[in-house]
Amino acid sequence: MKKYKILSLLNSDGPLDEILINGWVRTRRDTSAFSFIEINDGSCLKNAQIIADKKLSNYDDIKKISTGSAVTVLGNLLESKGGGQKWEVQAKKIDIISIAPDSYPLQKKRHTDEYLRTIAHLRPRTNKYGAAFRIRSEMSFAIHKFYKDKGFKYIHTPIITGSDCEGAGEMFKVTIMDPEKIPKTDGKTDFSTDFFGKQANLTVSGQLSAEMFALALGDVYTFGPTFRAENSNTRKHAAEFWMLEPEISFGDINDNMELGEATIKYLTGHALAECSDDLELFAKYVDNNLLKTLEKITSSNFVRLPYEEAVKILADSGKKFEYEVFFGKDLQSEHEHFLAEEHFNKPIIVYNYPKSIKPFYMRVNDDGITVAAMDILVPGVGELIGGSQREERLKVLESRMDECGLSKKDYWWYLDSRRFGTVPHSGFGLGFERLLMLVTGIKNIRDVIPFPRTPGSIEF
Ligand code: 4AD
Ligand code: MG
Repeated sequence: MKKYKILSLLNSDGPLDEILINGWVRTRRDTSAFSFIEINDGSCLKNAQIIADKKLSNYDDIKKISTGSAVTVLGNLLESKGGGQKWEVQAKKIDIISIAPDSYPLQKKRHTDEYLRTIAHLRPRTNKYGAAFRIRSEMSFAIHKFYKDKGFKYIHTPIITGSDCEGAGEMFKVTIMDPEKIPKTDGKTDFSTDFFGKQANLTVSGQLSAEMFALALGDVYTFGPTFRAENSNTRKHAAEFWMLEPEISFGDINDNMELGEATIKYLTGHALAECSDDLELFAKYVDNNLLKTLEKITSSNFVRLPYEEAVKILADSGKKFEYEVFFGKDLQSEHEHFLAEEHFNKPIIVYNYPKSIKPFYMRVNDDGITVAAMDILVPGVGELIGGSQREERLKVLESRMDECGLSKKDYWWYLDSRRFGTVPHSGFGLGFERLLMLVTGIKNIRDVIPFPRTPGSIEF
């Protein structure tokens, strides 16, 4: 007797005796001589078809098996006599682990994404969400594989931090203070008695820590959860999301663009090669052009476009945008979508943004007006990657910090890296959920996160 997952069972080369499988029942259908029971164990999209003969000793109970019930089946894998599947399992014994009552919310009919969000604890048992979260798992693995093969070291950067990497102030505070009794000194919150003795936050990015390691271990990456308290209720923003952040040692903005492009192509290619069954579901029910889009991204050269030219294209487009665009304004979602979908219809790397709209750490270009920043925009998603070459010159960095109103005292350790053996380096952040939106065609970030956290929503 050997325990199998449905994935490996259905890939069997021949019939098998005495196999054991576990799973949740999707459907049961009875004929006069036996019952067909479809079960799924989450290992793949496909169900295993179980034949339960009337002669089984607990057949009366088997006839009570409902959708959502859990069973363990001992049987033989045989070539299926019916159409629709290659294999079926002739049951010798069915142990009913638990029976789901009729109130089980996932009965056979199709449900809306909005409804399924309200039962996020059960939605991974549907075909669509099972597929989405298997792809999520596979893509995480692919990130590690790509970077390990390139010789990057994996760094665990802190979740709780005392600094604001992006300088946008969109941070969740971490405190043990009693909200009813906040200690004040001169009318201001006194953090000296708090857990860390100073104000602490959930990190918005692991970059600053990763930079320290890029100046020690060489090329590094971090991949973990990040948090943003931006109150934007869009389909692309979550309060908790995962970010991949590579940092290239002795690398400039061009190395950074190359790595960003190579990363995206590898990951879309990996999805096509390793997730084909699950992707087919998305191509059939979510986005009919999905496979073509992914193939195109995997094989195309990304457009490289200075910010100044991007602004010109947008201004000359004759399109009516909600937000006006001119040099010195950040691109809005509508502009990103116009460029990536309508104008170029492929991924674009926009670089050399005005320094006035970018964080303190980005390297100032020779023109003194722009920084060596780069964003990668992709069709359907918009900004997938944001990154830059880092300002490695101590004096320039210090004056940028002054301009941005940051305390050099607080960042003493960051400045030390520019004092001692500073080198050109660069990196980026790739929003993992946005990658998953690209790969699956799912349009709302809430539907690629197991338990999404967005403004006003922290159920589960
Ligand atoms: O462009 P961002 O803000 O860049 C940084 O945080 C840099 N410190 C990264 C680095 O250079 N190491 O964020 C990077 C990416 C964005 O391009 C986007 O894909 C994703 O993170 N992102 C979000 N994804 C989901 N929800 C949000 N609220 C996001 N904010 C950013
Ligand atoms: Mg950005």
